[in-house]
Amino acid sequence: MMKNGISFYVNNEKFAVEYPDIGISFNSWLRSQPGLTGTKITCGEGGCGSCVVALQRPSEGIKAVNSCLLPLCSVDGCHVITIEGIGSQREGFSNIQSRIAKFGGSQCGYCTPGFVMSMYSLLEEDEHPTQHTIEDNFDGHICRCTGYRPILDAMKCFACDTDSSLKKKCEDIEDLMSLKCHSKRPPKSLITVNIQSLTVTDGVATWIRPASLGDLKSQLRNLQQEHKCIKLVCGNTASGIYKSKSNFGYFLDIGQMEELRAINNYDDCIELGASVTLSEMIKTLLKHSDESVTFGAVASHLKKVASVPIRNVASWAGNIAMKCQHPDFPSDVCVLLEAAKAKVKVYDVCTGRIVTQSVFGSDGATLSHFNDKVLLSVTLPKLDDIKLKFKTFKVMPRSQNSYAYVAAAFRAGLASDEDRIENCVVVFGGLGSAFARAQQTECYLKGKQTNSMETLKNALNILSDEIKNVTLEKYEYNLALGLFYKFYLSLCDPSKLGYGISSGIGSLVRPLSKGTQTYETDPEIYPISQAMSNISSDIQASGEVQYVGDETPTTDELFCTFVLSDVANAEIKNIDYSIAKDMPGFVKIITGENFPMEVKNHSHYDGLSECLAKYCIQFAGQPVAIVIAESREQSKQIAESVKVTYKNVQKPVLSVQDAIENNSFYPNNLKPFQMGNPDVAFKNAEHVVSGEVDLGSQYHFYMENQICRAECTENGGFKLNVATQAQLWIQKTISHSFGIPSNKIEITTKRLGGGFGGKLCNSTIAGMAATLAAFVTRRPVCFHADLKTCMSTFGSRMPYFMKYKIGFNANGIVNCLSCDVYGNCGSAPRAVRELAGVQRAADSAYFCPNQLYKCYACKTNIPAPTWCRAPGSLQLNALGDIMMEHVASYLGQDPIGMKFANLFKNGQITLQGNLVTHCQIRNLYQNLMESCGIRSRQETVKSFNEKNRWKKRGLSVSPSKFNVKLTWQKYAVLVSIYAFDGSVVISHGGIECGQGINTKVAQVAACKLGVPLELITVQRTSNISAANSTSTGGSTSSEMTCASLVGCCEILNSRIEPIKARMNGKEVTWKELIAKCYAEDVDLSATYTSPTLPSQSYATYGVACAEVEYDVLTGENQILRADIMFDCGISMNPSVDIGQVEGAFVMGIGFWTTEEMKYDTNTGQLVTDSTWEYKPPTTKDIPVEFNVELLKNAPNPLGVLRTKAIGEPPICTSICVAIALKRAVEETKRDRGLNEYFPLPTPATVKALHNACELDPLSDFNLS
Ligand SMILES: Cc1cc2nc3c(=O)[nH]c(=O)nc-3n(C[C@H](O)[C@H](O)[C@H](O)COP(=O)(O)OP(=O)(O)OC[C@H]3O[C@@H](n4cnc5c(N)ncnc54)[C@H](O)[C@@H]3O)c2cc1C
Ligand code: FES
Ligand code: FES
Repeated sequence: MMKNGISFYVNNEKFAVEYPDIGISFNSWLRSQPGLTGTKITCGEGGCGSCVVALQRPSEGIKAVNSCLLPLCSVDGCHVITIEGIGSQREGFSNIQSRIAKFGGSQCGYCTPGFVMSMYSLLEEDEHPTQHTIEDNFDGHICRCTGYRPILDAMKCFACDTDSSLKKKCEDIEDLMSLKCHSKRPPKSLITVNIQSLTVTDGVATWIRPASLGDLKSQLRNLQQEHKCIKLVCGNTASGIYKSKSNFGYFLDIGQMEELRAINNYDDCIELGASVTLSEMIKTLLKHSDESVTFGAVASHLKKVASVPIRNVASWAGNIAMKCQHPDFPSDVCVLLEAAKAKVKVYDVCTGRIVTQSVFGSDGATLSHFNDKVLLSVTLPKLDDIKLKFKTFKVMPRSQNSYAYVAAAFRAGLASDEDRIENCVVVFGGLGSAFARAQQTECYLKGKQTNSMETLKNALNILSDEIKNVTLEKYEYNLALGLFYKFYLSLCDPSKLGYGISSGIGSLVRPLSKGTQTYETDPEIYPISQAMSNISSDIQASGEVQYVGDETPTTDELFCTFVLSDVANAEIKNIDYSIAKDMPGFVKIITGENFPMEVKNHSHYDGLSECLAKYCIQFAGQPVAIVIAESREQSKQIAESVKVTYKNVQKPVLSVQDAIENNSFYPNNLKPFQMGNPDVAFKNAEHVVSGEVDLGSQYHFYMENQICRAECTENGGFKLNVATQAQLWIQKTISHSFGIPSNKIEITTKRLGGGFGGKLCNSTIAGMAATLAAFVTRRPVCFHADLKTCMSTFGSRMPYFMKYKIGFNANGIVNCLSCDVYGNCGSAPRAVRELAGVQRAADSAYFCPNQLYKCYACKTNIPAPTWCRAPGSLQLNALGDIMMEHVASYLGQDPIGMKFANLFKNGQITLQGNLVTHCQIRNLYQNLMESCGIRSRQETVKSFNEKNRWKKRGLSVSPSKFNVKLTWQKYAVLVSIYAFDGSVVISHGGIECGQGINTKVAQVAACKLGVPLELITVQRTSNISAANSTSTGGSTSSEMTCASLVGCCEILNSRIEPIKARMNGKEVTWKELIAKCYAEDVDLSATYTSPTLPSQSYATYGVACAEVEYDVLTGENQILRADIMFDCGISMNPSVDIGQVEGAFVMGIGFWTTEEMKYDTNTGQLVTDSTWEYKPPTTKDIPVEFNVELLKNAPNPLGVLRTKAIGEPPICTSICVAIALKRAVEETKRDRGLNEYFPLPTPATVKALHNACELDPLSDFNLS
């Protein structure tokens, strides 16, 4: 019966929703209806964790789930607990919130509620988790700021086996605070409710929840007879990967159906209903793991499928159905079930028959067509023969939450003496849609010997023939053979294997993470130099802080979305929005053609790029129209319905190499820069080597997507609330485009959910979109980009290609170098500015007296790149290190010692013409060498490599020098003291993006005014109170804002002092003093903007060492240990600064190892525009042991308050990870006599590293 309403509980409060929108997610409803915005949204794909809430279904326990994939209707009858439900400043924070805050686990804070809710859910499920369980719990989360170490530490305090140092830290924190765990429990009645049938409709689609299997079958039959478009929905997680645009009329929710949730344990098998989730499947198999050889292995492998919150709702049946619908989908579940001899029961809707079959058909390759069928259950037999060997593998681009390059499962029955294979099953996933079982190999292996080179070689040859035709990629081919080799080795008697060969059997096992943070503070100047977490971290952890998208929309607010081009190099033929105009919620569409006459179609601060393309398309992802609608969802749906056609479509120029080939450059006004006399020096050089370095892009991956709210003001101007690092540029852009004076544009920004440079000039795009839409509708409008738009429209790190030549003597002392630097400046000339700034970044930690750099700005059809954490410095520091490695390799010397010999020292001159003073790099390098025992560890690595043929280790040390100039940034600061209570409010021109600027500002103000920190509040940044403030970037904003703040405090102190002096030494409180000042008409507000400090340039130095372990047969690797030593002068706040070091280093790990922006070479579309394809580091990609030390007693005489810039520099040391990996690859090549120098694979992905090994499986895989 049609009910047209659903009801559920959120944080114990009952909500009834009439006529629910069938298509929306619970996240959308939650954030927009009750306005519970503590739960965030980033990817909408289940790939980042910022939306995690705790879900309790009737008769079930609490589980973490991704609210972005949870259909609103599916929560009918459930209880959802959100971040608001477990603690707040008013009701007391939960101890999870407090710990993550106080451990420094929340920088920008955007990811924090998601982490908290995952931990909350885990503790509800398991009151006494181990540290391992806790580390396994965060595979579904991304944090771009922290580097994860403090988050994991905070969470591991809850472990039953937590270590003593964490316990102590936790106790110290909790002594300081009165903790109150305020978790609202679901009402009792909910937990026992039986699931009822449900039918609701929103007029477009109908949501049906059949109460029983019988009900489902009859619904399906009826709807099918009426030719309705039906979709079965279980966990709905598939929509995170395949964003279906089909218009289903009927959704049949089978997620809670009792018959399909059944788990039956029989004597000879376990049967799982189709809606059993992957988490439940894992639990069941682990519980019975001693009853079958396969169960434990299948469960372990399933833990590598997706992430905890996905697995908590995702069904095994949904996974199989996905493979059926998308044959290319690399399903792990299918591989596992096939190898485990599972049988699925399938109901045929047309015939009403139920059949039982294996997952793949008799040819071992094709899935049955499940489209008109319903999977009912799967039966996993108990295979308890001890002679049965079962092994599975999953090799991924990232340590967790990723699809498999190749997944494999092998099952072999051995004869009683274990030297003969009686039967064997070989299953692969990821080798193409038409291949799963290697049946010829299986057939060959029947009756063959183990421990036999002949068996191995023959099997490899047969397998090679089987997969050669189905696998186009060399890596997948080699990997598949490598995995088979691993399995075969595991069948052999280890004592009969040759020296070091058994190292091929096992996979890398990651131990628990750990780390140390070492620093010094100066109590004399507290709270400056005091280690403390971000001042708003508590309310970040409780979800109470508000980002732009969290502020309550006005009742008349509209929403806008871009229509994006899907080709890169073409002209627009037509934009057809005839369907769009009739869609619900449509308000207006703006195109280049109907662009308002009064407004210039320029969105960027350079005034050159079009806001909306009118004729020419420069890159795929370029905005061609703005759709304005009543809701965000409607604007997205309408934008999708707009059809753009193109003419004159050309092949895009995408890479630097394409640009060179096509002679596609921006007019080159970049002058070469040089020092000394490179020409002469090269003529006299004893040795010269040359090479190339090709460095790709990196998406900033700020967790808060680009957003702006704009409204018209009474005076013909605009008011904007925007996530930007550069209010001034938005103000200039709008002033220019709308032809209005700057004083009519008011911009505010409270905080950002991460920036990393991505919200500098590019936030003008968002600013213009919202302002334009507000202008044409005269209503407030919000533009909130989704992840795909941010990735494909807004531009990322600039790709660099560098050709170098370097001259040196026999000791490896470098005397000359020349370098051609090609920057991929994409489709707009504004990016050329980064390249113009390369001179500042060009020298690395190494001195070279004769240098020449020539820069070339390539014009291509990718979105114009934009500054990204340490732009240019990251690449040119890396170049320095890569060249040193090359020189060392050429001379056959140890690079670690050779690098030291080339480091800068005081008295030398830099490429920028500066005299080097206060140089710390040698000091840091030596300290690190000693404190980390580098020499003895090198020996250990060497002996490990000698003993292990198929596992290798590599160790590298990399220094960095980041040049800082205080020449262009200035920030206005306003400090006001309230007369009635002495509290202090600060508004400054810097933007809080998680780098801790507000915390440092509060610390400095407390110190300079001599008041307790608690009296100080830092409010939002406004271009009115902080007019003319420059953008927040370049790592010096905190310093320069503090310089202005010191000026303000001095002004205020100079006004307060005379009053104090007139009190004749009478002891008065601050409050009394301020009251007296007020009474005596003292102005208690002061503003000040520190002038730029052109003479004050200095360098931030750092050095890092990474040790890695590498699996030669797969390319997988892990960073066993990283030690970083950094010089940040007198740290204003070591907790914040160490957070910056860790966060930057881990972002660097991503750049060097997992993050790759790939474009379709025909259309120019970004292929890696989702969390499925693009892989920033997660909790298990960080170093297992992660030690950070801030150099002690190192005041910086050239910086503000003796400190140094820290936000960007540490990323420059992360190259050591890539080089350590290359070392490991060198070791394996050396084993095979391949001693030639080879370039660093960039990024050094699992695949690229494996390819660099140049393995020849057919000859290299041996038993001796
Ligand atoms: C971020 C992320 C990471 C992932 N990583 C991996 C991974 O590493 N390896 C891997 O193998 N998978 C991975 N997946 C896929 C995941 O396992 C599947 O999305 C999930 O198992 C699908 O189950 P579901 O219940 O959510 O299905 P739904 O999304 O509800 O449905 C998926 C499809 O199956 C159909 N369907 C559902 N139940 C049945 C049934 N009983 N009979 C017939 N058809 C049915 C639906 O109609 C729909 O077409 C990932 C998914 C996400 C979102
Ligand atoms: S927003 Fe839901 S997982 Fe990213
Ligand atoms: S604190 Fe995690 S993304 Fe910023």
